[in-house]
Amino acid sequence: MTTRKPLMAGNWKMHHTHLEAIQVVQKLSYRLEKKDYDRTEVVVCPAFTALRSVQTTLDADRIPIALGAQNVHPEEKGAFTGEVSPVMLAKLNVRFVIVGHSERREIFGETDDFVNRKVRAVLAAGMQPILCCGETLEEREAGETDAKVQRQVTAGLAGVSPADATGVVVAYEPIWAIGTGRTASAEDANATISVIRKTLRSVVGETAATIRVLYGGSVKPGNAHELMAQPEIDGALVGGASLDPDDFARIIQYGR
Ligand code: 13P
Repeated sequence: MTTRKPLMAGNWKMHHTHLEAIQVVQKLSYRLEKKDYDRTEVVVCPAFTALRSVQTTLDADRIPIALGAQNVHPEEKGAFTGEVSPVMLAKLNVRFVIVGHSERREIFGETDDFVNRKVRAVLAAGMQPILCCGETLEEREAGETDAKVQRQVTAGLAGVSPADATGVVVAYEPIWAIGTGRTASAEDANATISVIRKTLRSVVGETAATIRVLYGGSVKPGNAHELMAQPEIDGALVGGASLDPDDFARIIQYGR
């Protein structure tokens, strides 16, 4: 059986100035111990303006938290006012990039095709995409959850070789559970993640067994344990609760 190291990623969205971000990452590091890092890979995804400050803090204090970005543009460089390229992120020691978050798909109109270009660009730059997928409440009620995540995962990974896919992380985030306080039941999340795992197998074969699939949507210290007890859930992509270092540390410790 393949063992996948759990991954806990904090998506800070449009919160925390670079000064606040430094404080949060330092406080988080005070609350975590070696055994936490041994068991779980920890990632923080600050806003672009805080990436450099968080990187230097992690380096200077030798904190074993990985740096993630929340978005990227697929081109290497060019006339794309306001965008940030994969190489710019890679040079900041960014290891993970959230791609295709539902907020980017819904608010900024990102298509499956554009998300796929980003996935491939992130991998080409030596970083790991956290490819997000998930259904709306209407889709869930219409019984379309499985078809939606199958489509998003298949399209998101088009043209990615099985060898490159080892770097991929997938996050299942039901849109109705994001920022609402409503979590998918641990069993429902596990069932949809099983569908995602089967989809991965059809797209990248055996490599699917090594790909971590996270759950996201109102993860809190109080539900982390139950979610992490599910066999198919390999970690969490945490929004609101990751802004607070105490809460995020307790999630990383599975609600201890
Ligand atoms: P919340 O944890 O605030 O529901 O956000 C989830 C999310 O969108 C993480 O990417």
